[in-house]
Amino acid sequence: MAQVLRGDLLAREIEEELRGRVAAMEAPPTLAVVLVGDDPASHIYVSRKRKAAARVGITSIEHRLPAATDEAQLLALIGALNDDPGVHGILVQLPLPAGMAADRVLDAIAPGKDVDGFHPVNVGRLSTGGQGGLVPCTPLGCMLLLDQVVEDFRGLKAVVIGKSNIVGKPAALLLLERECTVTVTHIHTRGLPEICRGADIIIAAAGVAHLVRGDWVKPGAIIIDVGINRIPAPDSRPMIVGDVAAEECDHAAVITPVPGGVGPMTIACLLRNTLDAAQRR
Ligand code: GUN
Repeated sequence: MAQVLRGDLLAREIEEELRGRVAAMEAPPTLAVVLVGDDPASHIYVSRKRKAAARVGITSIEHRLPAATDEAQLLALIGALNDDPGVHGILVQLPLPAGMAADRVLDAIAPGKDVDGFHPVNVGRLSTGGQGGLVPCTPLGCMLLLDQVVEDFRGLKAVVIGKSNIVGKPAALLLLERECTVTVTHIHTRGLPEICRGADIIIAAAGVAHLVRGDWVKPGAIIIDVGINRIPAPDSRPMIVGDVAAEECDHAAVITPVPGGVGPMTIACLLRNTLDAAQRR
């Protein structure tokens, strides 16, 4: 059987450490979360972030704007949060409603408060391997999970499936920084099963339920499943499944579960970034 690498447990350990850091500060840090529109999944994610912030003693302030908000109003809010010395981290939940340009909005966040790590300055810092930037939460969570089971990354073959700015691209850069040999793939990649069969590490972040089958995975591989896919389940609520057909992967060395794997780590890393942003000021 593959070892199940529980992100929920590691996230609680990280929260414990962050709680100690917050308690040692003169005043708790403040995270501003901006949610535009009524995407149901976004509402669920934001509510999880708020509860996690409360658990470690970070103050979170939610700014909910209607879907019809125009971009100028949103940019004005971000400007005010940038200028507010009482705000240490700013997160604009994605996706934004149609018609709003996410890049213009993310560019407006002060890089030092950009706890998602999506601002071009932070993306640039990550791509040059420099220190001091804020790193996107989901790929950071993936690396902390891998650190639990990988002693030496040098020369390992890592395959990232997915090329998003939020997960795939930054995950590839982080693995490269650890001296892995990284192949970045996506759903249009030809011969994807064969490429995966060569991997020591697979990070699956394509957003396609059960894309990675058991016969894509070599014995002893380490699998990080970033997928959160809702699929209809007969006579019940939709089921959440990952990008990997986990039940076919007993021959892997390690696999992260869905749910309870990467998801809770994303939130723990958001809290860590918020504390880092507050303490670097
Ligand atoms: N939507 C899906 N994932 C994320 C994330 O990590 N940050 C933000 N802001 N929005 C998201």
